Amino acid sequence: MMFQGNARKLQDFWANKHLQTPGFHDSYWKQTPQRQFVAEKICALPGVSSVLELGCNVGANLMAIHKINPCIRLSGIDVNESALNYGKAKFRECGVRAKFRNRSMLNLNEYPSKSHDVVFTYAVLMHVPGKEVREQVIPNALRIARKFVVHSELHAFSEREAEYYKSIANTQMKDREWRDYFSLYSEFVPLDHISISQCPDVIRIVPNLVTDPQCPNALVVVQKSPNSRNSLLKKAAVCARRVMLR
Ligand SMILES: C[S@@+](CC[C@H](N)C(=O)[O-])C[C@H]1O[C@@H](n2cnc3c(N)ncnc32)[C@H](O)[C@@H]1O
Repeated sequence: MMFQGNARKLQDFWANKHLQTPGFHDSYWKQTPQRQFVAEKICALPGVSSVLELGCNVGANLMAIHKINPCIRLSGIDVNESALNYGKAKFRECGVRAKFRNRSMLNLNEYPSKSHDVVFTYAVLMHVPGKEVREQVIPNALRIARKFVVHSELHAFSEREAEYYKSIANTQMKDREWRDYFSLYSEFVPLDHISISQCPDVIRIVPNLVTDPQCPNALVVVQKSPNSRNSLLKKAAVCARRVMLR
């Protein structure tokens, strides 16, 4: 494995969380307005015929997507095998096809580049340390996605804002990671390919904050462009030239 320490501990924690949490699978299987919102946004993206969810648990988001567009091919990975087995049984009962794999999002090498139109997460990166998100998850999600990467996570528009939210968060929220996804993605794609919007009825800016710990506050949609890194470099080169010509 390419990661150690905290990230490894967290992964093991999630792999066994069902053992300490009564009703774990049933509670994740529940459909909610937030899941519906994210599923609708994903289905509304142009030309989406396949999705891969990183940290899919029992697959409730995948099922929400299927209900909106049954033609979309569904795949999900998670470290909790028991959740995946529960999901597989539910999907079988409903006669819906989905590929579930017991894998970590910190080791995505086996997934070919551009193999899924959309790669997405929902309430997952808020549990993953920053280094792994920056060095493993984001680059791989961008590599695997053909068209878009979507996150429904805890977003703050600066490190300072993130720290502030954390400092006033209730105990349940203390261990969640708030991040500035705009600046994280701006390293990889042109700025106009990143869109961040509020999840309605979910975001609770100070003083209400987020009351439900499972609810992310923002929807981050990142559009891939064929040469995104190049175009960013090109922009930088143009700026540098302008400075030199002055
Ligand atoms: C808060 S739950 C959200 C589950 C699902 N996305 C949903 O909306 O119901 C976080 C999920 O991430 C999974 N997870 C945590 N770390 C992971 C990792 N490194 N790789 C894959 N899945 C992981 C957990 O097992 C858990 O199912």
